Amino acid sequence: MTIFVTGGAGFIGANFIFHWLAAHPGDRVVCIDKLTYAGNLSTLSSVLKNPRFHFVKADICDRDTLDRLFAGECPDAVVNFAAESHVDRSIEDPEVFLRTNVMGTAALLDACRKYETPRFHQVSTDEVYGDLPLDRPELRFTETTNLHASSPYSASKASADLLTLSYCRTFGLPATVSRCSNNYGPWQFPEKLIPLMIANALQDKPLPVYGTGKNIRDWLYVEDHCRAIDVILQKGRPGEVYNIGGNHEMENIAIVKRICRELGKPESLITYVSDRKGHDLRYAIDSGKLQRELDWMPETNFEEGIRRTIRWYLDNRPWWEEIVSGEYQGYYEKMYGNR
Ligand code: NAD
Ligand code: TYD
Repeated sequence: MTIFVTGGAGFIGANFIFHWLAAHPGDRVVCIDKLTYAGNLSTLSSVLKNPRFHFVKADICDRDTLDRLFAGECPDAVVNFAAESHVDRSIEDPEVFLRTNVMGTAALLDACRKYETPRFHQVSTDEVYGDLPLDRPELRFTETTNLHASSPYSASKASADLLTLSYCRTFGLPATVSRCSNNYGPWQFPEKLIPLMIANALQDKPLPVYGTGKNIRDWLYVEDHCRAIDVILQKGRPGEVYNIGGNHEMENIAIVKRICRELGKPESLITYVSDRKGHDLRYAIDSGKLQRELDWMPETNFEEGIRRTIRWYLDNRPWWEEIVSGEYQGYYEKMYGNR
């Protein structure tokens, strides 16, 4: 079968492509990616020459190109990872989030409809549910929790989820949606918490913790997320939403201290900076449905996952050093310079 993976030059999409090519030796993967600041062709260098892999530089909002690609390839499935994915950037400039995350998803849905693609999968986030209070540890998001997005990023992802489910109901498009908690692992762009702290610590730079550092996220190793999407594509029911979580909640400050400890760096590098606007307090996912119905469980515990991740950033310095020495510097100065 041929599978279209959009956003495959980014963090999770690239890990998914590696997973799919290894786990499905008879399948072809076509990656469609615009190569925004977050997309990196060098991430895919190990598969670029694989005859079962094809890379297309294209914008998911470009309906003419999508038409050509769908007509030529007739994909058996489309997995949509392509997105603007960073909350802080959505607070600075929401418009591109609406364009890619909403209009881009709509363009893909229309192409799937026109070419009768047997499966569309929308990769979404637990952030569409909003946040939970810090003093109610028993509360967790289920698939029936109301959508209550806080940031322009999560609002755009919630819109894309609703559109996807509407195409399923109205047009009978066989679509599924997954909502995952925070991912970490190899190839993550160093604007996100874990790789930013690893890269800064390795350069002996301050480690900027927002607000009190007591905000909580539920962390999932990226390979477990890829396996979950695989199982949903194979066995998930169209029209359904599946939560994916790591069952591993941690305060941000504990993560940063952990990274310092692993790297042998002093905690004095930690610098508390002003809080993110509208900062979600806690995310916690109940992924019982996925476990019960599709027999999926996270396999990598945090201890092992964070060690592997830190090892990867130590072993792949040229990959992230090239990023942080480029236009990222302007971004960093703007976001953290006067914070
Ligand atoms: P990322 O920012 O690392 O990668 C996004 C990729 O999409 C990049 O390669 C970029 O070039 C591409 N892209 C952006 N706009 C595009 C467009 N208009 N057309 C084609 N390609 C475009 O993101 P990520 O962390 O890998 O996240 C992937 C998906 O998973 C996103 O949809 C995100 O909302 C979702 N998600 C992420 C997390 C997380 O912790 N990172 C958690 C849950 C869900
Ligand atoms: P992030 O990786 O941006 O993911 P998200 O906001 O989508 O959960 O941030 C994770 C948490 O870490 C979030 O509570 C914000 C916090 N954070 C910092 O304290 N400092 C930073 O420099 C960054 C990037 C994030």
